[in-house]
Amino acid sequence: MKHIIEDIRAIQVLDSRGWPTVRCEVRLTDGALGWAVVPSGASTGAHEAYEKRDGGEAYLGRAVTQAVDNVNGPIARALIGLDATRQLKIDDAMIALDGTKNKSRLGANAILAVSMAVSRAAAGSLGIPLYRYLGGAYARTLPVPMMNILNGGAHASNNLDIQEFMVRPVGAKDFPEAVQMCVHVYRALGALLKAKGLSTGVGDEGGFAPDLPGDEAALKLLVEAIERAGYRPGTDVTLALDVAATEWAQADGTYLLPKQNRRMTREALIAHYEALIRSFPIDSIEDPLGEDDFEGFTEMVKRAGIQVVGDDLFTTNPERVEKGMKEKSATAVLIKLNQIGTVSEAMQCVRMTQAGGWQAVISHRSGETEDSFIADLAVATNAGQIKAGAPARTDRTAKYNRLLEIADEMARDMG
Ligand code: PGA
Ligand code: ZN
Repeated sequence: MKHIIEDIRAIQVLDSRGWPTVRCEVRLTDGALGWAVVPSGASTGAHEAYEKRDGGEAYLGRAVTQAVDNVNGPIARALIGLDATRQLKIDDAMIALDGTKNKSRLGANAILAVSMAVSRAAAGSLGIPLYRYLGGAYARTLPVPMMNILNGGAHASNNLDIQEFMVRPVGAKDFPEAVQMCVHVYRALGALLKAKGLSTGVGDEGGFAPDLPGDEAALKLLVEAIERAGYRPGTDVTLALDVAATEWAQADGTYLLPKQNRRMTREALIAHYEALIRSFPIDSIEDPLGEDDFEGFTEMVKRAGIQVVGDDLFTTNPERVEKGMKEKSATAVLIKLNQIGTVSEAMQCVRMTQAGGWQAVISHRSGETEDSFIADLAVATNAGQIKAGAPARTDRTAKYNRLLEIADEMARDMG
């Protein structure tokens, strides 16, 4: 038995926005070392697992020393001596130790840091890459990257209400070409903005964040950038949106687009999306409606005829995905590890999603780190889609760079 957990140690570090987050290191008796740093959202869903923050003055209330202490104290005591390759048992042990439904006692940020670090340590101990450890011999699909090259909503201080305008290089022959295509479009967009005298400053996910007249103008600019880069919109590169409409949902069931100060009924909003889909090569929309509007999502699926992704709607929670499947409320589930809090539960959510004939889209958070775990997770699950922001800023490119490494490893494997 050489994969035994010998030591677990967490510290407080910073995420890409400079807010504190949890970094964990797990050492096994054979010397194998696993580490992980957890991400953090801005447009978080109400049904997400609990992110434990200290409150008080340090880091304006956002310090995570209690979560760190929970790793170094109770979690370490419960897990030291266990076999690191028993991921389910380890995650179950932490869930039991926490004892709450949303991981609010220990903190999902504490639990997830350990869960991820344990799986890395186990993979290292077995001498196999993380994606193969998590996914097995048939974990081979490199995902199509959905790169968020224009930021709005809660991720930018510009006047765009839609949070993410993404490009999808669906015509790429392989992953390296997909990355190159996105970079070409991103650079073409930058040049266009510059030529128009607009801001080329970037938002939280590395996308440009200019002030524009509205959604349509943003989409027109993206189509222009795709063409300028030498690609055919809708054939080589398509567009995807993350509306993050939970941010707009009002108690009375209407939607208020805060930056444009525009109020819409659910029906008007769906009709607005239909018009956008008719006018632009959009083939995926995430969170078009509020996080509890299962019914509205069902209507959206019926009328949109494209991929409808649930993020805040599902929060990577198998129970909510089950409800959504019964009601046909989406066609894809966004998978974010820290929305549910353990690797095992996220894997279970992916399995359910795929077994039900839906797509899983593996995702970063707007607050990210140097940790590229989700790149391996995307390959492990053969999800086929990943969103990890623009091809800019190391917190985003770390994921694409890890996928480039995996692509190369696979090419050599097959050669
Ligand atoms: P978040 O944004 O990490 O701020 O929640 C990402 C998303 O909504 O998909
Ligand atoms: Zn989202």
